Parts: sequence; C-alpha cells; structure tokens
Amino acid sequence: MSEKDIYILGIESSCDETAASVVKNGREVLSNIISTQILVHRKFGGVVPEIASRKHIEHIMPVIDEALKQANVELAAIDAIAVTYGPGLVGALLVGVSAAKALAFANDKPLIGVNHLEGHVFANFLAGEDLKPPFLSLVVSGGHTSLLVVEDYNTFKSLGQTRDDAAGEAFDKIARYMGLQYPGGPEIEKLALQGNKKAIEFPRPMLPGSNDFSFSGLKSAVINYIHGLEQKGEEVPKADVAASFQAAIIDVLVKKSQLVLQATGLKNIVLAGGVSANKALQDALASGAAEVGARLIHPTPILCTDNAVMIAVRGYYMYKNNEFSDYTLNANPSLQIGNR
Ligand code: KG4
Ligand code: ZN
Repeated sequence: MSEKDIYILGIESSCDETAASVVKNGREVLSNIISTQILVHRKFGGVVPEIASRKHIEHIMPVIDEALKQANVELAAIDAIAVTYGPGLVGALLVGVSAAKALAFANDKPLIGVNHLEGHVFANFLAGEDLKPPFLSLVVSGGHTSLLVVEDYNTFKSLGQTRDDAAGEAFDKIARYMGLQYPGGPEIEKLALQGNKKAIEFPRPMLPGSNDFSFSGLKSAVINYIHGLEQKGEEVPKADVAASFQAAIIDVLVKKSQLVLQATGLKNIVLAGGVSANKALQDALASGAAEVGARLIHPTPILCTDNAVMIAVRGYYMYKNNEFSDYTLNANPSLQIGNR
C-alpha cells in the first residue's frame, strides 16, 4: 500500500514578503503565493518595520486563502501548518505566527515552527531531485552569511559565519550609498553587467585559518573609494564600482566554500538566501565547486528570495521527524540556525 500523501501549508512573514504555499509530500508545489511590499518600502530606502507589520496584517489571510484555492486543497485536508517564527523582524514574524496558531487551533491541525534560514536551505530539495544530506550550504541572505553542513534532514552544523555585515547587507548598503533603489542586491547585479570587474582592486577579506566572513572592511573600502572621487570632483564609474565590488564579495564566498568543501570532502554545495539569486555568484560558485570535485545546486529564481514554499518543504521534513510546536510558539527575531 502506498503511503498517505502529506499536504503542508507554509506561511512566511519574516520581512517584507507575505507568503503562503501548499506543498505535497515535500516535493510537489501546489501553490506559491507571494505578496511583496518592495514598492512600499522602496520610498524609504529600506524596510520600515512598522509598515511591514501593518501590510502583513492586511495581506496574510487573503494570501493564505489564495494559496489553498490555487492548490485546490481544503484546509480540512491539510496535514500540518508550518510557519516561520524567526529570524526576522519581530512584528512581522508575529503576524504569520498568530495566523498559523489561530488556524491550527480552530481546525485542530498540528503546528510546526520553522527556522527561516533552514527554509532557504530546504528550497534546494526542489532544485536537486537527487539531493540528499550530507551536503554543504552557503547561506547568503540580507541578515546572514554562513557555511553550514546539513548532516541529515534535521541536524545542521555551522562551520563559520559573518563577524559583521551579511553579504546581502553589504550589497544593500553599497547600493544605497551609490543612490540605487532598494533592494540593492539586484540593482548592483544589473549595473555590474555594464562594468569591468577588474577596474578597481577592492580587498578580499579572507580571515585565514577561520571559516568566518567579514565584509565591513570591503564595504568601507568601496565607500572610501567613491567618497575620494567625489571630493576631487571626479565622476564615479558606477558600473565599474558595482562590478568590482560584486567580484570581491563573490571571490571571498567562492574561495571559502572551496576550502570547506576540500576540508570536509562534501560533494554537494547548495546556495540559500536572497543573494543566491545573483547569477554571477551562481556561475562562479558552480565553477569553483567543480574545481574541487563538487556540484552546486541552487533554487530557481522565485525560490531564492523569500517565499513560503521553502517553509512548507522544511515543515514537511519536521513533520516526518515528529517535530511539532505547541501554542506557546512565539516569534524569535534572533533565532540561530540549527536551533529550533
Ligand atoms: O533571503 P532574503 O530574501 O531576505 C532575508 O531573509 O534577508 O534576502 C534578501 C537579500 C537582500 O539583501 C537583497 O539585496 C539580496 O538578498 N539579493 C541579492 C539579489 N537578490 C536579492 N543580492 C545580490 N544579487 C541579487 N540578485
Ligand atoms: Zn530570507
């Protein structure tokens, strides 16, 4: 007899996307609804937490309804409700967590609190059909940069992380300094296509002997370079700055990933978090991994940035492992990876 199909409703509201999704058996995406607030926050140059919370409240129920409708699944047929409870903005997280708790209670469904970063990592199970732990994950989002070993479906070991700015944060800050719009990562990537990545030699902070990252020195070097030209009244070659800055960050991410792949002997590396949408990073890491006998897997573009499919997928594996939350589940803005 075949096993019963498992339907997970995923809910995500950690930053500026309100999202819901239904995923069958951890593999089949039945719906992926994302209501983004990017245009609302763009006017302010970044996410305004108060506004984000208010927009989540407006959108959460319609987004969940739409996810169920598109999946053609009744709430009664859902096996569990998985929701992001951290890390992220506390007021934003609380909206998803409260909605999930209310739906779980009213419909007598199991509740699963999901770590957003683990969700990003698990988006890769939809990209690499044959992907199985153990593998390495390079997590590069707006708030986090880390190298993580996924030892099995429920055990993660962090080998190194950023000591200051996250990769996405560095992209966003440099973009903002250059007068580009929010979010900065995709804008830098676009501008870099028109520039020469060898034009300016920015530092590549390697922190020898450690798997940690540090991007604040690189960020300062870029800002000082731009400032220096402005003071002399010279024109800033923006496309070259974008290309050279992006190349410096990518070099560090690739080199450090290669070192860890060699040290651990792992044969697969996955990209996770918003910066994984960067095509130049995907290409450089794919070649870098191949150089040391490993393979890169990354999510499709829509699953690189925040979404609820990844939360449902992570929720599926927690469901299989009997990891449920009770109604005391609360938002945890500084939740660490591997802590649940
Ligand atoms: O994972 P995510 O959507 O939200 C967080 O969990 O933080 O990541 C957002 C980050 C932002 O810093 C954004 O600028 C960056 O991902 N990002 C990119 C690209 N797309 C998004 N960075 C570089 N290149 C991109 N194409
Ligand atoms: Zn994210």
